Amino acid sequence: MLICIPEVLSKAAVADIRKRIDTASWVDGRVTAGAQSAVAKKNAQLPEGSPVARAAGEAVLDALAGSTLFLSAALPLKIFPPLFNRYGEGDGFGVHVDNAIRAVPGHPVRVRTDLSATLFLSEPEDYDGGELAIETAFGAQEVKLAAGDLVLYPASSLHRVNPIKRGVRTASFFWLQSMVRDDGERALLFDLDQTIQALAAERGQADPKVVSLTGLYHNLMRRWADA
Ligand code: NI
Repeated sequence: MLICIPEVLSKAAVADIRKRIDTASWVDGRVTAGAQSAVAKKNAQLPEGSPVARAAGEAVLDALAGSTLFLSAALPLKIFPPLFNRYGEGDGFGVHVDNAIRAVPGHPVRVRTDLSATLFLSEPEDYDGGELAIETAFGAQEVKLAAGDLVLYPASSLHRVNPIKRGVRTASFFWLQSMVRDDGERALLFDLDQTIQALAAERGQADPKVVSLTGLYHNLMRRWADA
């Protein structure tokens, strides 16, 4: 399942993060790449664990915690601390698949990467190229969103960032381990939750059908989720 979540960050929050990170010192993006993706990757990254990256990452995590659509779609169990990248003219990231397991630096914690996320921090008109192209069962889908919007997609997908032809593309990216490992089961839970929310808005939370479907949702979670 590929899902775009609008306005995870307000424009003011985007501007605040950009102000903090734009003036920081950036390093070669290959520091977090595996052997295969290092060959394909050409961009810059904020050093993992640097005070600037950590503070900006906290702002992203706070925003995610307030997004009901993100929580419903991702059902996050563990979120890897958000990283930040920047693609200038001529940069890009050829087709690759993300590493399955990520160790959180400085913590005895590992994250199985069920989902990958990109949070756009540049407006689409600020650069040409730079689309995130994700292979799906229905062919490659190209994603280029407004600053503050996020795309969530299975980390198992082959994906690439098209070369930048003009301007600069800045983004935050991270991985997460979901309470529900299976993409198909997670997609069913998301559809069910969205339907329950729509029904509850029409009929109220106390409507017997809403109560019954809510029970079904939680019983499926009990069956499929790790906590
Ligand atoms: Ni990737």
